[in-house]
Amino acid sequence: MATLPMARPVFVSPRGEPPSETLRARLAATRALTLALSAPLGAEDMAAQAIEEASPTKWHLAHTSWFFETFVLTRFLPFYELFDSAFGYCFNSYYDCAGARQPRPKRGLLSRPPLERVLAYRRHVEAGLERLFDQGVAAKGEAASLIELGVQHEQQHQELMLADILALFAANPLRPAYRAAPPRSLGGAAEPLRWIGYAGGIVRIGRDLGEGFSFDNETPRHDALIHPFAIADRPVTNGEWLEFVEDGGYRDPSLWLSDGWAAVEREGWEAPAYWERRGDAFLAMTLEGLRSPEPAAPVAHVSFYEADAFARWTGARLPTEFEWEAVAAEEPVAGNLLDGGALRPTPPAESFEGHPRQLFGDVWEWTGSAHLPYPSYRRPAGAIGEYNAKFMCDQHVLRGGCCVTPQGHIRASYRNFLYARQRWLFAGLRLARDVSR
Ligand SMILES: [Fe+2]
Repeated sequence: MATLPMARPVFVSPRGEPPSETLRARLAATRALTLALSAPLGAEDMAAQAIEEASPTKWHLAHTSWFFETFVLTRFLPFYELFDSAFGYCFNSYYDCAGARQPRPKRGLLSRPPLERVLAYRRHVEAGLERLFDQGVAAKGEAASLIELGVQHEQQHQELMLADILALFAANPLRPAYRAAPPRSLGGAAEPLRWIGYAGGIVRIGRDLGEGFSFDNETPRHDALIHPFAIADRPVTNGEWLEFVEDGGYRDPSLWLSDGWAAVEREGWEAPAYWERRGDAFLAMTLEGLRSPEPAAPVAHVSFYEADAFARWTGARLPTEFEWEAVAAEEPVAGNLLDGGALRPTPPAESFEGHPRQLFGDVWEWTGSAHLPYPSYRRPAGAIGEYNAKFMCDQHVLRGGCCVTPQGHIRASYRNFLYARQRWLFAGLRLARDVSR
């Protein structure tokens, strides 16, 4: 491992506000992008569900419309008529306050309604939202807040659509590509990892109202104590992960948490999700089909259990979410995100200049922190309180967004969360370590 540069002070100063277009324009652009992302797919592709966590594309197209219909149009648009009263059951995701629903593992059974009717549903909802703007209701107050939430929610589903398509195509014996692309040079190994030291101290974490959009689980802004630590200048790479595999990382129970080792044995894990052994080497399923993993690109599709075991193998650890945020708040919100079009984690685009790279984009970074409410957190009332708050148990926080996270959706304070076993998102890790005072 590399040397530890001079410690820098830590403080938080959020940057990277979303673009400043009007809400109406961003709504239209977001809805259009969702459709554009589905364009390479046929109706059969859009109906199937690979795994319990992943939903069919058609379901995403409908659910994101149901969200606007349920939480905005039925409340704020006079005389709004539901497109189809049966759709609430089909396309409610997990909102108990909004009624019964199709079980999540069985979303792939929704061969009806057909795609055309789902697309008509989208247009019906969009027409309703247009009327809301025309009437001047949508631009202010709670209606505007809920439309903003609907936009942010749809952006989350854009990322999920691509991750879910990858899960689906990885389960298809033809290993189809979501996007055709010519083979590219694999490039060499990554530069040796460098450590960047931070002094720690009492730092401001999270967001307050009035600082731009944030989800409720990022609030309220509060103090956290961080001890001196060092963090890696980049995420762990495919090349480094291959070393872990070849060193028997998946066969050594001393590296693993108990639940993680049980998952290794139960699931037969021997590499990240979507890696397929070919003799002595691996290929990895990507949105461009089966590819050799790029050695210098961040490893993706690893569970918290695997990230934790890898960190232990190196003698390091995962950063806490507060360490991560304190570091990221000092850096510009830029990176390999959806809008860049790579659709895969890539080697760092910039050379090392004393700052951590690839904090935003490429891969979500597992932290060692549980998804818990911040001090004085208040769960929002009603169904919206189900958005994040009811998942503050037994899940882990990931930070920074990934290669299929929309630009403008991510920020330093953003808290994603997953169960420790989950691997289908573009999730990797960055190492951290303690520094003695
Ligand atoms: Fe949703």
